[in-house]
Order: sequence, then structure tokens, then C-alpha cells
Amino acid sequence: MQGRRPDHEKERRVEIMGMPMSLTDKWDTIDWHRIMRNDKAVAPRSEPPMVQLGDTIMTMDFLNPVTTQTWINGRHAVRCVKVIQETWDVRTFCFMAEQPVLFFFKPGQFVTLELEIDGEPIMRSYTISSSPSVPYSISITVKRVPGGRVSNWLHDTMKVGDELTVHGPVGNFNSIDFPADKVLFLSGGVGITPLMSMTRWLFDTNANVDVEFIHSARAPRDVIYHRELVHMFSRIPEFKLHIVCEHKDDIGEAWAGYRGYLTQPMLELMAPDFLEREIFCCGPTPYMNVIKRILRDNGFDMSHYHEESFGATPLDVREDVLELAEQAEAEAEEIVYADLLSVEFVNSGKSVRIQPGETVHSAAAKLGLHIPKACGMGICGTCRVPLASGQVEMEHNGGITDEDIAEGYILSCCSKPLGDVVVEY
Ligand SMILES: Cc1cc2nc3c(=O)[nH]c(=O)nc-3n(C[C@H](O)[C@H](O)[C@H](O)COP(=O)(O)OP(=O)(O)OC[C@H]3O[C@@H](n4cnc5c(N)ncnc54)[C@H](O)[C@@H]3O)c2cc1C
Ligand code: FES
Repeated sequence: MQGRRPDHEKERRVEIMGMPMSLTDKWDTIDWHRIMRNDKAVAPRSEPPMVQLGDTIMTMDFLNPVTTQTWINGRHAVRCVKVIQETWDVRTFCFMAEQPVLFFFKPGQFVTLELEIDGEPIMRSYTISSSPSVPYSISITVKRVPGGRVSNWLHDTMKVGDELTVHGPVGNFNSIDFPADKVLFLSGGVGITPLMSMTRWLFDTNANVDVEFIHSARAPRDVIYHRELVHMFSRIPEFKLHIVCEHKDDIGEAWAGYRGYLTQPMLELMAPDFLEREIFCCGPTPYMNVIKRILRDNGFDMSHYHEESFGATPLDVREDVLELAEQAEAEAEEIVYADLLSVEFVNSGKSVRIQPGETVHSAAAKLGLHIPKACGMGICGTCRVPLASGQVEMEHNGGITDEDIAEGYILSCCSKPLGDVVVEY
């Protein structure tokens, strides 16, 4: 497989804000990608930060004009500073912290909003659509979901000056942990948000990365960030943008580009070397299922495929179940039946046998049971269920209290059965 950045790329060691970092000979600039890959938070400091470039020592005060702290995963108060109408049903909300904070995160990661709507606590996750290259604020881009509580509440209520609590940043779907020289970004609808953050990051840091970006929207009026994308992609020869509009009958304005749903022939036309690229995909479940099918059919090494799901609609859940059943059939020969664990959902009267390492949530999905889920990372508590018997290994991120655990609750998205378990659902 070609096109990925070799691990042995020569590096020069420097120290930035007290952390050992590196410059690559190739970029001859600060290797922000490695800085971002370092999960350790930088403690607030009293001395001006220094960076050593060869024999020269420079201050990093441009990054730190005040005693600015760096954002770390946790619970933070932020204030809305800007609202941008992106399309007729999509808005971007920009936030800054009360005290100056450098919002460093990995492009593609998300935050979980902690809200109270009509006196009821409610949490929802949203990708950070801005880039850490503009670190004094973060943005989320939200599409109205018909009948959806939080997306409509944000559109109708959130205005400049309002305060909000966010949890994060978290998420494994990011371009920092999977560096490559050639990437393919695939998005459908509002699934563009993490890929936009990655694109803005690569653009702003002058990264020497070849980007093919294929975005599918319903109609031209639904293309989020259209002008900004065209601007960025017109300035860098290695950035190539392809927009596909799905609805032939509902185009709404002149459209000379690709039409219909993304297919393999279309993909081959737009990115003939797609099998050589690191692939990042985010969109509706059926869209991502099609992409995965094309890739598998072409023998793509799926360890170079990364996807983010924004959650499932009831229709998606049905599709997921079919997909999981297909996968289970394909993997059946490799399964050691003696190792399988039983997960029983006692209220639904259903049970399933799963392999060690699978979560309680995915066990439920296999049965078509839709346990509500928001963050998928043990932050928000949305997927909390009572465990009637058995033991699980739960790697959460603060989304459950010790009291809840003592009472027998688990977060199904991040709980892996250690033996046979019975869940009250
Ligand atoms: C990691 C992550 C990142 C995300 N990033 C983004 C982003 O960048 N931008 C974005 O817009 N969204 C994003 N989302 C999705 C977002 O979290 C919300 O799911 C979305 O905004 C809908 O929330 P809501 O409260 O408006 O809708 P909900 O109230 O949760 O309803 C969602 C849908 O389900 C239907 N529904 C609700 N309850 C039921 C029921 N009992 N039976 C049948 N149907 C029902 C509703 O009518 C609606 O169609 C992300 C999600 C995740 C997990
Ligand atoms: S979905 Fe958020 S904790 Fe499980």
C-alpha cells in the first residue's frame, strides 16, 4: 500500500511549551501533527514558552499572549460568540471559554453538550467542525433533525452570549492518529463536519497531504461550507473536491456536477487511486455501508478505513442489523464457539451470543434492540442500563456516577461482558 507517511521519516527534536516535540525535515516547520498526537495536557506555566529551532531559541508567545491554558478532556463552560446560517437547515455555533483557553484537539474529535431543556437534563454529541489551527474558539455545525429535541432547540434558542457546558474533546475518529500522505475524505450530509475540521487543519498547517474530498448532498442548496470548500480547494493543487448531488428531481438550481448516489464507477472516476489512500468516512449508516461494501469487494485493507457514526435512526438500526448479520455469517468460520458469551435482555425476552470484546450495546443492536446512544464513548450517560447479573468491564469517561455503578447500572456503549450477563432492557 503506497501513499502513507513512512514511520521512519527523519525528525529533529525540539521542545515546545515544555514538551519534547519534533520537526520533520520534510515540512521544515513546527510539526503540529505530532503536537496534537501527544495526548498529555500542557499545564499552565509562568515562564514564556520557548521553542528551539536548530541553534535558535524563540519564544512561543504568539501562541500565548496571555496566561492561556490548554483545553483538556473534561467539563467546560463556554459562551456562544457567533451563529452562522450555513444552509437553510444547518447552523454553525461558535464558542469561546470565559477565560482564554487554547482549544487544542485532534481534528475529527467531538464534544458532548450538557443541556437542560424544559427542566430535563439532556446530552448530545457534536463534532468540532472548526480546526485547532484557530485555537481560541470551537465551533459545532448542527443540522435540524425533524422532531429532534436538541438540534431544533439549538437552532431556535441558542444565541450569542448564551452559556453552555461541554464535555470533551474526545473521539478516535481523527486525522492525527492516522497520518498519511494521501487521504480520501468521504462524507454524506452533515457527516461533513469532522472531515471539514481535518481539511481546515491540513489547509492551515500547509501539510503536504494529497486530499481527495468527495461529499454527497441531497441538492446544491444542502451543500454545507460550499464556498469555503471551493476556496480552499482552488488554492492547493493537491486538494481535489468532488460534490455529488443525490436528488435528480429536486436539484433546485443549476447543477453541472455528479448526480445520484455514490457508486464504484463514480468513485473510480473521482479518485482512481482510492485503494492507496487512508480513508475517513462519515455519513448516514446506509451511505457508509455502501462505501464499506465497495472497499471490501475491491480487497481494500480495512485497517486503513476509519468511520464516524452520528447515531442511528430506526431505519439505520434495521440496516445495521442486516449488515451485522452478514458480517456474522462471513466470520462464522473463524468463531470459537466455546468462547462465546451470552447476553440476555430480560425485558425484551431476547438473547444473543457474542464474542469477547463486543459491547453490550452492539449485542443489543444485533437483536434489533435500539438502546439510545449519543457519544458512544462513556461520556453522556445516554446508554445507561441496569445490569441484572454478571460482570462487565466498563471503560467510561465519567458518564456514570459511583452511586449508579453501586446500584448496578452500566453504560452499554463501553461495557464488555466478562462472562454471561443479563441486562434489564
Ligand atoms: C460522535 C457524534 C458526533 C455528532 N456530530 C454531529 C454534527 O456535527 N452535527 C449534527 O448535526 N449532528 C451530529 N451528531 C448527531 C447529534 O448528536 C444528534 O443525534 C442530532 O442532532 C439529533 O438530536 P436531536 O436531539 O435533535 O434528535 P432526537 O430527539 O435525538 O431525535 C432524533 C431522531 O429520532 C427520532 N426519534 C426520537 N425518538 C424516537 C423514538 N422513540 N422512536 C422513533 N423515532 C424517534 C426523531 O423524530 C428524530 O428524527 C453527532 C452524533 C455523534 C454520536
Ligand atoms: S452513549 Fe454516551 S455514554 Fe454511552
